[in-house]
Amino acid sequence: MRKIIAFTLMAFAGTAAAQGVSPVQDPAGTETVVIHGDRPASKFDRRLFGQFAEHLGTGIYEGIWVGKDSKIPNVDGYRLDVVEALKAIKVPVIRWPGGCFADEYHWREGIGPQSQRKVKINTNWGGVLEDNRFGTNEFMNFAELVHADAYVSGNVGSAPPFEMAEWLEYMTSPTGSSLARERAANGRKQPWKVAMFGIGNELWGCGGNMRAEYAADLTRRYGTFLKVPKGVSLMKIASGPNEDDYHWTEVMMREAGSLIDGIGMHYYTLPYDWKTGQPRPSLGFDEETWARTLFKAERIEAIIDGHSKVMDRYDPAKRVALMVDEWGTWYDPDPGTNPGFLRQQNSLRDALVASLNFDIFARHADRLRGANIAQMVNVLQAMMLTDGARMVKTPTYYVFDLYKGYQDGTVLPVEIQSRWYTKDQWSLKAISASAVRGTDGVLHVGLSNVDPTKPAKVAVKLDGLTGATVSGRILTADTMDAHNSFDAPHAIEPASFDDAVLDHGEVRLTLPPKSIVMLDLR
Ligand code: AHR
Repeated sequence: MRKIIAFTLMAFAGTAAAQGVSPVQDPAGTETVVIHGDRPASKFDRRLFGQFAEHLGTGIYEGIWVGKDSKIPNVDGYRLDVVEALKAIKVPVIRWPGGCFADEYHWREGIGPQSQRKVKINTNWGGVLEDNRFGTNEFMNFAELVHADAYVSGNVGSAPPFEMAEWLEYMTSPTGSSLARERAANGRKQPWKVAMFGIGNELWGCGGNMRAEYAADLTRRYGTFLKVPKGVSLMKIASGPNEDDYHWTEVMMREAGSLIDGIGMHYYTLPYDWKTGQPRPSLGFDEETWARTLFKAERIEAIIDGHSKVMDRYDPAKRVALMVDEWGTWYDPDPGTNPGFLRQQNSLRDALVASLNFDIFARHADRLRGANIAQMVNVLQAMMLTDGARMVKTPTYYVFDLYKGYQDGTVLPVEIQSRWYTKDQWSLKAISASAVRGTDGVLHVGLSNVDPTKPAKVAVKLDGLTGATVSGRILTADTMDAHNSFDAPHAIEPASFDDAVLDHGEVRLTLPPKSIVMLDLR
């Protein structure tokens, strides 16, 4: 049984194998990570640290926007604790307003005096009232406030192309056109920078239940009318495939590839698939569920690889970016919360899901140039959770903090020799790693030990690299579901890690069970 699983995993992890991952190692021995400093690879695009913020539950209202008159400390209506936390991790891009919400969103309902905006029902998420207090001006100003690029998702499913075109003109036109004047009358004279525009969301599902062929035709049509002023750049992002739907990517690239700059796939980590009806609690799970979740998180690598191969056939120069527009864990909603709000706790398990993803992103950074975790605040695998005036940072937030030195750095290939961690039918390499030379010249090495019971001795060999000092930070805890709550907001946080020894071109350390360590070599 063990052999069969191992074989299956190697088949999934085709690219990992190609990069020298050796599955067999003495369980009692030292795992090795060789960093090839003489073979700098692609840039680790900072947009791989993107965030997704949808009008869903308390993701926007309460999570970001509390209003200028709120007792919660705020800057122009945006809650201060969240703004400061986002700035601290250098959030590079925010995708808004959806998600499924995007293909029912009409931007004109979200501009002008807030009290006069249209009140609608959020049909996708809990059937609650949406009063459009947070609209285009509020989002674009928010993105600027936290120094993030704006990624706006348009409505293809239920609006005509001119609506999308006029929205873009409202945001970007510097001229005295009626839309630019309207923007000025709404308090913003200068145009904003829209870095990316999504041509619909999940057009295969909530965005219109389209076939790939029809969606590709609409992408051509809507994309044609997305225009920005001369000298302004805009990435047009097609609604991409769900998970391993390679046919979707094939058709989109074949029919619309020359008209788009990116294609946004979605992949969520579910311990159990929807149809099983099995409970998926965010806390209080057992080790089998831990292993199952991390195994499923790693499945994204084979899927990225599959889509990249399809894209290579149509775009060998890799002009069109593959983006993971939505990724992260999806568990049962917290007991007692509105099931449509997708509110879930976030534990050390989620932190490992995030670090494994960053390692995978590094291995595919040539084609993969953007990813947005779902979602930023209070929804799914969130960075932060709020409760009225209280806010906690999640273990996932701290992974984004530990890895932020990767932003726009240069990936250095790594070869990993690791034993397997196996629990029941789930097997994965105990050690995951990546290395990036930061724009500041520091070599950042991310190491994860997915085994929740055994430590791992690791030798990091620096091939073609020199380093005089090593320092580190660690994220770990005693329990698999360690998390921060409003009563214990600092239960799990990074600590300094001083146990790595640099000696003769090698760093030696022991990773505790279920831990993430970020080493900085200078
Ligand atoms: O993130 C929640 C939802 O998941 C998004 O609205 C949708 O795009 C996806 O199915």
